[in-house]
Amino acid sequence: MKTVAPAHSKILIVDFGSQYTQVIARRIRELQVYSEIVPFSISAKEVVDLAPNGIILSGGPASVYDKGAPQIDPEIFSTGIPVLGICYGLMQMAHHLGGKVVFSGRREYGAGLLQITNGSRLFDGLGPQLDVWNSHGDEVTALPKGFRAAARTEGCDFAAVEDRQRKLYGLQFHPEVAHTPRGKEILQNFVYHICHCAMDWTMGSFIEQACERIRRQVGDEKVVLGLSGGVDSSVTAALLHKAIGDQITCIFVNNGLLRSREEEMVQRVFGENFRVRLKYVDASERFLSALKGVTDPEQKRKIIGNEFIGVFQHATEELLDEDRRNGAHRHGGYKFLAQGTLYPDVIESVSIEGNPAQVIKSHHNVGGLPEKMHFQLVEPVRQLFKDEVRQVGLQLGLPREIVYRQPFPGPGLAVRILGEVTPERLSILRAADTIVVSEMESSDWYYRVWQSFAVLLPVRSVGVMGDQRTYENTIVLRIVESQDGMTADWVRLPYELLARISARVSNEVRGVNRVCYDISSKPPSTIEWE
Ligand code: XMP
Repeated sequence: MKTVAPAHSKILIVDFGSQYTQVIARRIRELQVYSEIVPFSISAKEVVDLAPNGIILSGGPASVYDKGAPQIDPEIFSTGIPVLGICYGLMQMAHHLGGKVVFSGRREYGAGLLQITNGSRLFDGLGPQLDVWNSHGDEVTALPKGFRAAARTEGCDFAAVEDRQRKLYGLQFHPEVAHTPRGKEILQNFVYHICHCAMDWTMGSFIEQACERIRRQVGDEKVVLGLSGGVDSSVTAALLHKAIGDQITCIFVNNGLLRSREEEMVQRVFGENFRVRLKYVDASERFLSALKGVTDPEQKRKIIGNEFIGVFQHATEELLDEDRRNGAHRHGGYKFLAQGTLYPDVIESVSIEGNPAQVIKSHHNVGGLPEKMHFQLVEPVRQLFKDEVRQVGLQLGLPREIVYRQPFPGPGLAVRILGEVTPERLSILRAADTIVVSEMESSDWYYRVWQSFAVLLPVRSVGVMGDQRTYENTIVLRIVESQDGMTADWVRLPYELLARISARVSNEVRGVNRVCYDISSKPPSTIEWE
């Protein structure tokens, strides 16, 4: 690592494998301060070279006494740079500076009440008590020399500690999570008042840095991007275009699992807003025939992922042929694949070492693709959350129509049709979905929720229409609010709106005689039904 004069304030986040490390980074971005995540193995010399204003040590799943537990270079505590240790980060601080850490035997998880006993700059302006969120097993039982306790919780005398002289601070709880409602102010006190960072990092700075990184990564090679019409891939395309101009080509694959008239909409909006080359591939028949007879959710996802690889590969070969026919004889091929992978996609799809998050569903834009296709990945928004990607999109001048579109899963309507995906069932779901979207839009609810869509169940029930007995399909309405898709709750929509959607779906969609409303949150359910 080389020394560069910092053009802006900087916080280093030392990662000990916590599932919240990226959440800390996000909180720092919210404070308009630049942050960089570095592995726990970073040396004190490398830290000094990076010249941060402050350091945050993340939590982590280990106990400091575990065999192979990640250990910090203790010299970092003598650099004079302010350090805030969170949870495992605090244990590291206490352990290496001569305090005593024990496994408490009484894992404290969940909500707690913090009593600020001694005051600290960390708690400036926050009053005597705070709701906090704990998640830890180790506990500090004796403080290192020079430290004092600043706050306690019921289970822990050293819930917040500090050595003001050496600018070392530690918190047993997690200030970065939403369950510590005033945690952002604690981080703010650390970042602004202890580390003296300026608010000099904006989404504009993010865009500049992302473009710079993309240029460095791809050089003058060609890049392809699978455009889905959603905000993530659109923003990625716009970023790539800003960074490398016409070195990028987008491929839009119609997998036959799209919403009604989606392919027209994407091509129209794309044509109006981008000056990027777009190749449209209609592969619907191929996907639908591969899905024939398949009912298992994971198998559907795998099949769609695999077909996508085949189609995409073929499309890139065609592009290369086109380029060569057009005179690009020295074309070295498409070496890079750009993807709009976001942070929540990453943690839900892959098991990060030391991160207990299991694979819940195989998201089809993450994992698998590059190994089989020999592409190198370009993922410029991988560290961001959905709302941040939207800010980037707005800043890049994308229309609100794209920026505020609700998320749509890669495997499309296949994961909203329970049981077999057939052309008939697709057309039932498309018709119902169109009504849901149009009613949500005309009532102004569309942009107020995270997602609103219809699901087709493999369940028929008896109904009556006119004087006729019917035995038809069931549609479920799934309408949820969420910050990032990782947790969600069902929306308390007005009854009148629900009634209107229900009446229209059962009157206008042939083959449906019953409409249900899904009142499950995530967890324990997921947003999509498969
Ligand atoms: P779940 O169903 O896991 O969904 O609660 C969380 C969010 O992710 C979207 N989703 C996907 N997005 N590829 C995607 O790009 C996928 O395979 C995929 N599966 C789910 C889902 O719509 C929700 O917003």
